[in-house]
Amino acid sequence: MNRGTGMDQQERHWDEVYGARAPEALTWFEEVPEISLGLIRRYAVPAGPVVDVGGGASRLPDALLADGFGDICVLDLSAAALDISKSRLGPAASRVRWVVGDVTRWTPDKPYGVWHDRAVFHFLTSPADQDNYIGVMRRALAPGGHAIIATFAEDGPERCSNLPVVRYSPEALAARLEAGAPGVFAPVEAQRHVHATPMGRTQAFQVSVFRRSDAP
Ligand SMILES: C[S@@+](CC[C@H](N)C(=O)[O-])C[C@H]1O[C@@H](n2cnc3c(N)ncnc32)[C@H](O)[C@@H]1O
Repeated sequence: MNRGTGMDQQERHWDEVYGARAPEALTWFEEVPEISLGLIRRYAVPAGPVVDVGGGASRLPDALLADGFGDICVLDLSAAALDISKSRLGPAASRVRWVVGDVTRWTPDKPYGVWHDRAVFHFLTSPADQDNYIGVMRRALAPGGHAIIATFAEDGPERCSNLPVVRYSPEALAARLEAGAPGVFAPVEAQRHVHATPMGRTQAFQVSVFRRSDAP
């Protein structure tokens, strides 16, 4: 991949993170991604295409496959993370499209009904990266499609995995999307979620849903 040094460093960082510990020991680990799954069930067209950006080694694709979703793409900067999921899934891994890449530079392969991001957008601290992400999300989502974006809440941690994050309220996230793509992403709902880490600490998240509402 030919990317700037910053993103090359990020890629190395995340490969090291996933190489250093079992996935079950990472602070963001979830045995069953219940909130994500519930929202995807609510907003996806049955069996419609879903992309999980920055999906890492999450068990979301396992849950989606079990739920009958057959058009799933998982994108992540870290090949090591995706390899963990591929090994875990075994032969079922061939039913998922795996993309190693930077979400801010991705060229979507098709229009998706659901864009899912749990704890990825908040790592983008530069306005340019945030704008690029928003542009990719717009191109990836079919008209009427939904984006589910979970970030640390305003009272969530200031750093994750040794990296700084930007914390959002649902209103601040909606305002950021509106600034990056005016009139495109209409807020649909938002909830607060307190995640319990494997070490027994808590992290406050906001989970927002947006609908791509502009004309195609
Ligand atoms: C905190 S983890 C969350 C992983 C997963 N969403 C979950 O809930 O288990 C953040 C993930 O974002 C990925 N990531 C960070 N920056 C990225 C970028 N610019 N493009 C794609 N993935 C990225 C990391 O490799 C890591 O897997």
